Amino acid sequence: MKKRVFSGVQPSGDLHIGNYLGAIKRWVALQEEYDNIFCVVDLHAITTPQDPKILKQKIREVAALYLASGIDPQKSKVFVQSHVLAHTELAWILNCFLPVGWMMRMTQFKEKSAKQRQQVSTGLLDYPALMAADILLYQTDLVPVGEDQKQHVELTRDVAQRFNSLYGETFKLPAALIAKEGARIMGLDDPTKKMSKSETATGHAIYLLDSPDEIKTKIAHATTDSGQEIKFDLQKPGIYNLLEIYQLFTGVDRHEIESAFAGKGYGELKSAVAEAIIEGLRPLQQKYTELMADPAYLESLLAQGADQVRPLAEKTVQEVKNKIGLG
Ligand code: TYM
Repeated sequence: MKKRVFSGVQPSGDLHIGNYLGAIKRWVALQEEYDNIFCVVDLHAITTPQDPKILKQKIREVAALYLASGIDPQKSKVFVQSHVLAHTELAWILNCFLPVGWMMRMTQFKEKSAKQRQQVSTGLLDYPALMAADILLYQTDLVPVGEDQKQHVELTRDVAQRFNSLYGETFKLPAALIAKEGARIMGLDDPTKKMSKSETATGHAIYLLDSPDEIKTKIAHATTDSGQEIKFDLQKPGIYNLLEIYQLFTGVDRHEIESAFAGKGYGELKSAVAEAIIEGLRPLQQKYTELMADPAYLESLLAQGADQVRPLAEKTVQEVKNKIGLG
């Protein structure tokens, strides 16, 4: 029996190379080895305000980007979170086992709520309960995510453990699968901050659908550090970030990269990084355009994905309801 993988991306903005290198590209690499479920987590997206028309479009875009990146519907189940009602049902139940204090300690909640002030919804605080439901519904073994989601996966384990100790073995305890490289791609405008979908500054992120010219301009304007050496040195976060992006798009190892750039200037590094990204994204962008030209095909794949996972999710919810005496 293959181990089960579950992961997802929020359709809350344009996907960037951080989402790709930290998550989606890894899902593709792991696809053969595991039994995979990949979800477009639209219910998570509404924890912050969304325009209904844009949200609907973004859900399809994210699904198409999974497939365009190489997720194969023969090997992985792909679906939209709100198509499977068990997600909200289990999230409510888990809420009742999650102390508010645990939720208030989540770094991402603290950061996002600080930005929004009075606008903060209860959903934003509660978001990790829904994420825990996503993962636990499918008796998931591994959750491949970027570094920023580690705390949420730990909370998922904690609530699963709590439930299991009260009612007996019910949930498998999942583990986060975080890559050594690419788990935290930084903003191009400020390499001390994580690249983020919600950041709106023009030079902050490279989006998966950016044109070659946009990519060249953004990389040319990326913040670099003082000095001239081109090395994987964490004291130089700007150069480190560019080198890591280059490494992940080309697959060349770190020593080789450092020797190839020895004695060269930042300008040359930037041109090479821009080219690597353009070439790396080209096949993905082509496939994406083809997929978006056939909305009926995409809809049918998503309906099929939901039909495949629904029985698994419903089985878990039913077991949980029986154990706690509901119904
Ligand atoms: P989201 O939509 O913010 O991000 C999707 C994935 O991209 C990773 N990521 C990054 N990786 C490297 N560098 C970055 N700068 C970067 N920014 C984002 C994220 O870690 C994530 O893996 N709560 C989740 C979605 C979710 C989920 C789940 C994930 C909901 N339910 C269940 C796994 C399992 C989120 O908001 O990801």
